[in-house]
Amino acid sequence: MVTQYDKISQKFKNADESVPDVTRPILYSLVTKKKGKLLDLGCGYGEDLVHFQKEDFEVYGIDVSKEMVKEAEKKSQGAKVSVSSFEKLPYDEETFDIIFSRYALQHSDKITPIFKEVSRVLKKGGEFVFLVTHPIRHYFEKKTKDYWKQEICSSLILGGKVRVEEPSHKLNEYINKEILSKFDLIDFIEEFDPAAEKIKDAGKYPSILILKFKKR
Ligand SMILES: C[S@@+](CC[C@H](N)C(=O)[O-])C[C@H]1O[C@@H](n2cnc3c(N)ncnc32)[C@H](O)[C@@H]1O
Repeated sequence: MVTQYDKISQKFKNADESVPDVTRPILYSLVTKKKGKLLDLGCGYGEDLVHFQKEDFEVYGIDVSKEMVKEAEKKSQGAKVSVSSFEKLPYDEETFDIIFSRYALQHSDKITPIFKEVSRVLKKGGEFVFLVTHPIRHYFEKKTKDYWKQEICSSLILGGKVRVEEPSHKLNEYINKEILSKFDLIDFIEEFDPAAEKIKDAGKYPSILILKFKKR
């Protein structure tokens, strides 16, 4: 299967490496464990794998795009990267100390199966830190302007250099009773990413949602 990121892997990498980023320092500061096995869900071309390798974690990554995985293998040299989907992770129960993800999980139309897989492969006390497109940004991008209805949003990212399509989500897909029965919510951050497209009143609404959970 050829995914949308197979077609734009090089363009995405070049744009991501050239556009100033404010999100990674926030995300990295939320990973408080100092060692162990770390998995990056939707690792892309491997920028975050390299960061965590330098921090001495044992680093794993998965991505559904073969082209992105090729780039990640080249860039990270030594991270264990594979072509898989975060809805079905190729790992045993309680393998990881940390699960990390940046701008990837919102690509699935359903978030619940991802949390189930994360809960399965994360150790007790393990950290789950991720960044997704904020549901409010999706709302602004919707043609229907119907918060409740899932719709494919076409988003300009990375300083307008790349266009991607992703399904919209509601906030309660990321925080709900089922999730909170398995995880403690440790942090909840809303920010505007200046690399995002400037939609009406840019900066007056959050474009990213960052959550940190700890598995009970
Ligand atoms: C916006 S990119 C972010 C890449 C990387 N995390 C970063 O911040 O540079 C989203 C990535 O998620 C991957 N992705 C989308 N759906 C996926 C799925 N179901 N399973 C695994 N990876 C997926 C894409 O192939 C792409 O590489």
